[in-house]
Order: sequence, then structure tokens, then C-alpha cells
Amino acid sequence: MRVRKKAWTAAEYESNPHLCHNPEEHKGKWSELFGNSKPIYIEIGCGKGRFISKSAYLNEDINFIGIERQSTIVATAARNLAPEQKNVMLIHGDVENLLEFFEPGEVQRIYINFCDPWPKKKWYKRRLTYRGFLAKYKELFGGSGEIFFKTDNRILFEFSLNEFCGDGWNLSNISLDLHSSDFEGNIMTEYEEKFSSKGFPIYRLEARWNKKQQ
Ligand SMILES: C[S@@+](CC[C@H](N)C(=O)[O-])C[C@H]1O[C@@H](n2cnc3c(N)ncnc32)[C@H](O)[C@@H]1O
Repeated sequence: MRVRKKAWTAAEYESNPHLCHNPEEHKGKWSELFGNSKPIYIEIGCGKGRFISKSAYLNEDINFIGIERQSTIVATAARNLAPEQKNVMLIHGDVENLLEFFEPGEVQRIYINFCDPWPKKKWYKRRLTYRGFLAKYKELFGGSGEIFFKTDNRILFEFSLNEFCGDGWNLSNISLDLHSSDFEGNIMTEYEEKFSSKGFPIYRLEARWNKKQQ
């Protein structure tokens, strides 16, 4: 999803309190920014923000941080947040720099929703569930943490199952057709709506990491 830079993006950056300009400076101190020590959940590739906005709205006891590498898209996500939503921040950044944004142990859960499938075999290392990324997520979690992953792409889902299993993660709530399953409380993302309306099944899993159990 490539979006042309919009003229209003710079103004949004200046004025929108949900956009974090210097995430590295908050490393280890996000609770100070939020003004409380509630758990922190992050969404990687949050797109236009529907999922994180609704998640934050429904879960006031959690602080949410979205990370998105396209500036216009993250500015759109910021625009879509209500000013009174105090438990959500957005970072214009890349998952590659995750460990520059957070201290190990500062994040308890990661959402990866409909990430780019990088379909060619030679691109497998770019997939966000490749074990190179899993190593980064484990470092981020410190002792333990969890990843909630959704995709419409069967090949990416199969790849991800193999990566998580081969790397010692505990898998649960695996669904090969989320919308026909008895899973409750699903929050649809923009891409999820688009693909499911075309009749594609949605795949989902939860992966948990616990250093002590290794
Ligand atoms: C296919 S879209 C899905 C957006 C949203 N999660 C949804 O389900 O509607 C993937 C998003 O991830 C972002 N993205 C891809 N790679 C990323 C990375 N390495 N770091 C941060 N964001 C990334 C893209 O810019 C894009 O907005």
C-alpha cells in the first residue's frame, strides 16, 4: 500500500498530539508519557488505524502504540483518533528500529495484522514473522510476551506457523477461518474488511514466548 504524500501531512505532524515525534527519547519511559503504568500493546504496520483506535477505545486499561512506516498513512491514522483517546500513540517508524523505541520488557503484546506477504520465496526474510524478526520481538519482550497475528494470505500463514514453531513459541487459538469460528471480540482492520468482503478466509493465531520455558 503506497500512498502519495499529502499536503496536510506536515500540518498534522505539527498539531496532532497522538503522533510521537521522538520515540527514541521515550525508550524505557513510555509510562511517563501516558501518565500511568498500564501494560503496553503495540501494533506493527497499523495502517490507517481502525484496529488500534477501536482497541484503545474498548480497553482503557491498556496503552496502545501503533508503528507505521508510511508518513501519510500514520498521519491519517492520527486524524482518525478522537482527541479524548489518551491511551493511544502513533510512531512514524520502521519495525527494524523497534529496539530503539522500547526497553526490553516494556511491551507485553504485539499485534501484526495483514502485514505484507512478500510472496516471492526469495523475499522470505522481509516477512514480519520471519525468525529474524521473531528474535527482535523476543528481545523486546524480555522474559515473556505474546503476538496476535492475522492475515488473509495462506502461504504467509503456513510460513508463520513454521517460523513460530521452529523458534520455540507456544501457539494457541489457531483459526483457518476466523469469521466462521467461535472466536469472540474480533476487531476488524481495514484490510480485513476488504479481503473478507471478497470472500477470502481470515487466518489468525496467538503465539506466546516465555524465556523460562525454553
Ligand atoms: C497491508 S497494510 C495493513 C494495514 C493494517 N494493519 C490493516 O490490517 O488494515 C501493511 C501496513 O504495514 C506497514 N508496514 C510494512 N512494513 C512495515 C515495517 N517494516 N514497519 C512499519 N510498518 C510497516 C505498511 O506501510 C502498511 O501500512
